[in-house]
Amino acid sequence: MSVTIFDQPDVQAFLREISGLDKPDGSPRAKQIIHRLMSDLFKAIDELDITPDEYWAGIAWVNELGIAGQAGLISPGLGLDHFLDLRMDAQDAALGIDNKTPRTIEGPLYVAGAPVVQGHARLDDGRDTDGQLLLMHGTVFNDAGQPVPGAQVEVWHCDTRGFYSHFDPTGVQAPFNMRRTIIADQQGRYSFRSILPNGYGVPPGSPTEKLLFALGRHGQRPAHIHFFISADGQRKLTTQINIAGDPLVNDDFAHATRDGLVPEVVEHGDAASIAAAGLEGPFAEIVFDFHLTPLVQGEDNQICERPRAAA
Ligand code: DHB
Ligand code: FE
Repeated sequence: MSVTIFDQPDVQAFLREISGLDKPDGSPRAKQIIHRLMSDLFKAIDELDITPDEYWAGIAWVNELGIAGQAGLISPGLGLDHFLDLRMDAQDAALGIDNKTPRTIEGPLYVAGAPVVQGHARLDDGRDTDGQLLLMHGTVFNDAGQPVPGAQVEVWHCDTRGFYSHFDPTGVQAPFNMRRTIIADQQGRYSFRSILPNGYGVPPGSPTEKLLFALGRHGQRPAHIHFFISADGQRKLTTQINIAGDPLVNDDFAHATRDGLVPEVVEHGDAASIAAAGLEGPFAEIVFDFHLTPLVQGEDNQICERPRAAA
């Protein structure tokens, strides 16, 4: 028999008590958030008649998720990262800010401290010989359409097996492989050579994958390259590009694909192009410009200082 008790005064008093609302100590904001989240959870248990077995299966999963360190992996899978982006888009729209280069999620696999290189960088260590050569370049612009000399282009991507350096279970990648900070030249230009990444999949058998499978979903991402773009007087842009032609471009478990972030990939096989690019053989070229937006009243009103790995 299904009963609902959520609205009873004793349950409402209990929610205030567990949230510390009857205590002077602690953080008012923490109390406000926990009171709301616990109220929503109690209500869901009540209205969906969540059984004790279902509840305790959920708790076991949360423990498994924590032991695996995967809270940051399931977060994009459940759309929370994209939802935060949509909220920032809406805040920008309300302020009349037009993001010519769309933002999209950071993901959980950035590592601070990558080597800093002027103008042009090679990202890969040459070990992953399965990858097609990639040359990517473009210009960083401000919202007046002027180039931004000295803009910082932080870039990171995975290898052809879908593994990121510092998070590679096989341990074969050198530190900061496929991670660099490129300083744009006097014309605001950046460029790098690397190899085309493949798609990424959440670890097989992981708690993240188990939940996605329970939802009839998968844990795969299309091939993509991550960026942070920053410069004096500008808001930091967090974005990614997808590799056009990947079959999952519009079926990303992390919901990061956005219009304007799937640039054309041009294949070059002729000797003249190869020589002009200074590369060893046929390569794929991506040209992509980044458009920054200025600080709002002198501040980056959306800067995110989430805890990040550093090496
Ligand atoms: C995840 C991995 C990524 O490479 C990414 O860009 C976003 C999310 C993840 O495992 O959740
Ligand atoms: Fe990624």
